[in-house]
Amino acid sequence: MAKKINLFDTTLRDGEQAPGIHLNVREKLEIAEQLDRLNVDIIEAGFPISSKSDFNSVVEISKKIKNRRIAALARAVPIDIDTAGEALQHAANPVIHTFISSSDIHLEYQFKKTRDEAIVLAADAVKRARKYTDWVEFSAMDATRSDRDFLCRMYEAAIKSGASVLNVPDTVGYALPEEYARLIDYIIANTAGIENVIISVHCHNDLGLAVANSILAVQHGAGQIEVSVNGIGERAGNAAFEEIAMVLDTRKNELDFYTDINLKEIMKTSMLVRHLTGYTVAPNKPIVGKYVFTHEAGIHQDGMLKNRTTYEIMKPEDIGSQPSKLMLGKHSGRHAFVKRIEELGFRLSEDEIEKAFEGFKDLAEKKGEISDDDLKAIINNEIRDIEEYFKLKYYQVINGTSIKSTATVGIEVNGNLIESASYGDGPVDASFKAIDNITGLEASLSDYSIEAVSEGGDAIGSVKVILNSGQVRVMGSGISTDVIEASIKSYLDALNRIMLYRKSE
Ligand code: KIV
Ligand code: ZN
Repeated sequence: MAKKINLFDTTLRDGEQAPGIHLNVREKLEIAEQLDRLNVDIIEAGFPISSKSDFNSVVEISKKIKNRRIAALARAVPIDIDTAGEALQHAANPVIHTFISSSDIHLEYQFKKTRDEAIVLAADAVKRARKYTDWVEFSAMDATRSDRDFLCRMYEAAIKSGASVLNVPDTVGYALPEEYARLIDYIIANTAGIENVIISVHCHNDLGLAVANSILAVQHGAGQIEVSVNGIGERAGNAAFEEIAMVLDTRKNELDFYTDINLKEIMKTSMLVRHLTGYTVAPNKPIVGKYVFTHEAGIHQDGMLKNRTTYEIMKPEDIGSQPSKLMLGKHSGRHAFVKRIEELGFRLSEDEIEKAFEGFKDLAEKKGEISDDDLKAIINNEIRDIEEYFKLKYYQVINGTSIKSTATVGIEVNGNLIESASYGDGPVDASFKAIDNITGLEASLSDYSIEAVSEGGDAIGSVKVILNSGQVRVMGSGISTDVIEASIKSYLDALNRIMLYRKSE
């Protein structure tokens, strides 16, 4: 039968210890309410002795959230434990999480304690914590760099004093997966009373192994994983909540574990934590990154269109994310391009598709991601012949380092020459403003790109502009060996396309 794995969320404690993160009480409460909806088993709400704000956060979260266990951190010293106990007084299910280091490096340099003294402190701390609650978690900090027999002695003392959970932190993210698994095996084989407590794992990600180590540890008998949303935490952070939850779910048949997590809340939780902590995530961050359900390469898009499982092992909808997306860009193929333009309602002949596809590749090369509006502009541009309503007759610019750019432009409109002059921020801007005076069209420039399409001093410049006018978005292009002329031509080309829309309305 599948075994339940508890998820202990430390976003508000270890996560909040990450450099630059400062959550106030209201923000912590907001995250705790979201963790409640996510259905985590334990919310570590703070380290009450460390600050007034941490103390108050634990108080407020304890008052508000009654369905989860609420944990507070305390060093193995009386004042910390009493403060944690006080902060948790309103909690329906309080957890005191007390810790002391077990590695010689920490004991000697940081705590200045002998091993025997540390064991006494650990035992006393657990006993004292038991006065406040029957759910006490004991952590042997830096467990993975500790002498194993000493570690087991320390855990035995904690069990005898009444601990319900023993945490095995890989505090500095140093352990290798097999090594960590062997440590769990060793603790299970050599700690008296271990069968009566839950083994918890708390892995830091300094070597990028936090998730792998945590998963291997539960395969070796641990029953609880400590996680943080988006993996935030000290230095490189903790095992990422969303990754652990999705490994356990996606590979449940092989792993035979389950959690109570409400997977559909994952994306919302990730977004909230990003927003409140200011820690964004990389676009390729597993599970919650912007592009992890987006496919741009032609071969992948082709596979996805035939069957989603060709390139996806999870459904974005399952974590409350947007459906998979085929992003159109320079790596995209014809299959995805045609599918998208059909979805946008265009019915094109083979020749038109060919022309539009060429235009698409051309723009994608310069612009990267091509939006639906860009696609509409490309199609309008490539397949519709347009009448030259506004025709360039001449232009002149005055430009220099110490004078304001001025442009004079003459445009033929319905056989009449209309002229205008304008200042601008550079010669192109001045020319566009002069043209605006003539046409009177309300259009805003949303994109301008220029490229040399041949080599040498007399290279031809190709300019593309995208203009928005009300609901209409059009692309215009123009070429010339003179970049100002190419710019003016592309601008007029786009304006002529807007006129085409106006006339057909
Ligand atoms: O990383 C660590 O060892 C900790 C302990 C307080 C559990 O965060
Ligand atoms: Zn930690």
